[in-house]
Amino acid sequence: MKFLGHLSLGLLGFYSLVNAFNGNIKHVSSRDTGANSSSALVDFQVYKPVEFDPASKGCSQVLLLMDHEFAYSYGKPYIGNYVPPKCDFDTVRINLTVTSQGRQFDRLALMYLNDTEVFRTSTAEPTTNGIIWTYIKEMSQYLVLWKSPQKIIFDLGNLIDSTYTGPFNVTLTASFTKENNGRVADVILPISSRQSAKNGTSAFTVPPDNATVSLSFPKNAQRAVVSISACGQIGEEFWWSNVLSQDVWDFNSTVGQLYGYSPFREIQLLIDGKLAGVVWPFPVIFTGGVAPGFWRPIVGIDTFDLREPEIDISPFLPLLTDGKPHTFQIKIVGLNTPSEDDISISDTVGSYWVVTGKAFIYLDDGENYNKPPSGVPPTIETPDPRFGFTRNLVYNATSGQNETLSYSVTVHRVLKITSGQNTWTQSLSYSNDGFFNQDGLSQRNIQNTTGLSISSGIGLDGKFAEYYTAFSYPIDVNTTYGVGANYTTIDAIMDRGLEISSTGALGISTYTLVSGPMDLQTRQWGDAHYYGVTGGPSYSSGDTSDEFHETSDGSTFSTYVHAINGTVVSGNGPANSPSLIVQGNQYPSGGRPSIRSIIGRGPDN
Ligand SMILES: *[C@@H]1O[C@H](CO)[C@@H](O)[C@H](O)[C@H]1NC(C)=O
Ligand SMILES: *[C@@H]1O[C@H](CO)[C@@H](O)[C@H](O)[C@H]1NC(C)=O
Ligand SMILES: *[C@@H]1O[C@H](CO)[C@@H](O)[C@H](O)[C@H]1NC(C)=O
Ligand SMILES: *[C@@H]1O[C@H](CO)[C@@H](O)[C@H](O)[C@H]1NC(C)=O
Ligand SMILES: *[C@@H]1O[C@H](CO)[C@@H](O)[C@H](O)[C@H]1NC(C)=O
Ligand SMILES: *[C@@H]1O[C@H](CO)[C@@H](O)[C@H](O)[C@H]1NC(C)=O
Ligand SMILES: *[C@@H]1O[C@H](CO)[C@@H](O)[C@H](O)[C@H]1NC(C)=O
Ligand SMILES: *[C@@H]1O[C@H](CO)[C@@H](O)[C@H](O)[C@H]1NC(C)=O
Ligand SMILES: *[C@@H]1O[C@H](CO)[C@@H](O)[C@H](O)[C@H]1NC(C)=O
Ligand SMILES: *[C@@H]1O[C@H](CO)[C@@H](O)[C@H](O)[C@H]1NC(C)=O
Ligand SMILES: *[C@@H]1O[C@H](CO)[C@@H](O)[C@H](O)[C@H]1NC(C)=O
Ligand SMILES: *[C@@H]1O[C@H](CO)[C@@H](O)[C@H](O)[C@H]1NC(C)=O
Repeated sequence: MKFLGHLSLGLLGFYSLVNAFNGNIKHVSSRDTGANSSSALVDFQVYKPVEFDPASKGCSQVLLLMDHEFAYSYGKPYIGNYVPPKCDFDTVRINLTVTSQGRQFDRLALMYLNDTEVFRTSTAEPTTNGIIWTYIKEMSQYLVLWKSPQKIIFDLGNLIDSTYTGPFNVTLTASFTKENNGRVADVILPISSRQSAKNGTSAFTVPPDNATVSLSFPKNAQRAVVSISACGQIGEEFWWSNVLSQDVWDFNSTVGQLYGYSPFREIQLLIDGKLAGVVWPFPVIFTGGVAPGFWRPIVGIDTFDLREPEIDISPFLPLLTDGKPHTFQIKIVGLNTPSEDDISISDTVGSYWVVTGKAFIYLDDGENYNKPPSGVPPTIETPDPRFGFTRNLVYNATSGQNETLSYSVTVHRVLKITSGQNTWTQSLSYSNDGFFNQDGLSQRNIQNTTGLSISSGIGLDGKFAEYYTAFSYPIDVNTTYGVGANYTTIDAIMDRGLEISSTGALGISTYTLVSGPMDLQTRQWGDAHYYGVTGGPSYSSGDTSDEFHETSDGSTFSTYVHAINGTVVSGNGPANSPSLIVQGNQYPSGGRPSIRSIIGRGPDN
């Protein structure tokens, strides 16, 4: 992998590895959880530890925001009332601790303060002896929301029946401290369906929803950034392994219909119908995805905290501060490839993406920074992306089957939006090489996505500044589906990474999750197997390595963890109970209802 930034590996910095796991991820006593702590598996996402409730800081209050059992909770979010603590605070962090016991699928969860999504997470899959995990998250970027009363809306849609028996018990606490943090946004406006007054959840489902809202900006807005939270589900969960639309029936007799619109996705932000910036998504993998055995006890990169990429919309502020409402739309697009030399952005994608956004607005302190006159739109240079694709379907006349399909897609895009001294530029590259063999039973995709964005302009201090963020999201996944007389199997190999190098910008980034400069390199790789008895139980084993280096907030955290069949075998992870090992070291896979829901092709039940 090509590392984007410099990293001093010798510097272990403020946190020790022991603190990382003993301090932030630990067993909860049986009195707290109902689960037997000595046998509960501790799941974890590898991430740089975030301090929770340092007692020496000012204010120093911890509030319980929620303690709720999500059993049959589909369409029934938790609704609570938050009232700010009476002390002076500038820092808010949450502790999400979840226990579950039984069998259950992985679930997506969204937390809102009124109409604004503030956290998107997903769950680990429980075991018969129970699991537990804790995730600590910085929440000070939403300080302006935490300063007023809010409804806490926590949506974790779960289903319970005779087979899928595990509820998720979720405890959510928040610490409030005074740590003399830097400036965060003064106003946050949601790009959401705004259902909180009706106790509803405010994410758009795209398609079919049209994720468009109308926003009015304060006249003294000086800088503004839009963050976008979006992830694919069902036919769009494994979007990075989708095929060109003309190939969806290639292997119908072996694995059924494939999902189309190509493996390329772009999330577009349109302001008054004009492209303001794009997000090329990170291929998040949930704990039931590809092969469940990969993700126990180490969950996938970002699985417990889906990052929200940011688009600096400051060049639109002269237009947006004209006192009138302006439309903000979030669109998800893929590719249409009707013939060899015809390729274009599709207007829609398969079903579906869960989408919200928000505008973080920083107000002018009253100085006159010589802004361009109000009402003037920015200069928008968004040349068409450069595309390429190849496709080769090989039919075997002897067997009468399509035997192999190779395809590749490349996309490059640059865009530049300028208004006075404010500029937002993006430069992005994408490639995906896909290969099916064994009549579609085996599929491999090697995808690379890289990007650089630069935001420059006059800061709140009246001085010119330039900020950079670069990323790389390599992923290589091979899944081979096997069918026996009375069982099915999946053999999977995975190697994926996430690299971010950022100078930091204003406030606390919803993308880097910190304020100031940040360098992150992380990689996960391994192999996993799944074995499902037809009409009976399923099992999944796996071998996952995880390497992680992050430098931020003036310290470096580095770790390496290796887990096999649910037990950490080297590196630093929380202690696991050997009592979990059952049936030849394969764990019952709480799973997913079908092969198709695990790998995006194959039978649906
Ligand atoms: C997080 O919350 C859980 C459950 O409330 C608690 O047991 C654990 O100690 C907390 N972790 C930290 C670091 O405060
Ligand atoms: C979840 O909460 C319910 C109700 O309080 C309790 O009966 C159950 O034992 C808890 N399960 C776990 C795994 O903590
Ligand atoms: C959140 O919504 C409730 C009503 O649904 C409202 O009373 C409250 O003022 C809202 N909070 C903010 C900060 O807008
Ligand atoms: C919203 O939920 C709260 C708490 O459950 C309840 O008291 C209130 O009546 C509900 N409001 C609406 C509009 O359903
Ligand atoms: C979505 O809404 C926007 C703004 O109202 C409109 O311009 C656009 O045509 C709509 N798109 C669809 C597909 O309905
Ligand atoms: C082979 O692929 C083509 C194009 O998708 C499709 O029309 C045809 O039905 C496939 N043949 C078989 C035997 O599946
Ligand atoms: C796909 O296979 C199903 C089941 O074998 C069959 O009913 C359907 O007609 C096939 N569709 C196409 C487009 O080949
Ligand atoms: C075509 O299919 C036949 C029968 O399944 C098989 O023996 C042969 O190896 C295949 N040909 C190629 C080129 O793979
Ligand atoms: C993806 O990136 C890796 C390493 O950066 C490189 O070895 C590989 O050739 C790239 N693959 C594609 C399909 O561009
Ligand atoms: C994917 O893995 C399977 C078996 O593990 C192998 O047969 C197949 O060739 C691999 N695909 C590629 C493109 O490497
Ligand atoms: C699967 O089939 C094999 C061979 O027919 C048989 O021996 C075995 O008992 C079957 N297993 C199950 C779980 O039905
Ligand atoms: C993990 O489980 C698989 C499947 O049961 C088994 O083949 C493998 O030997 C196990 N690995 C270790 C290190 O126990």
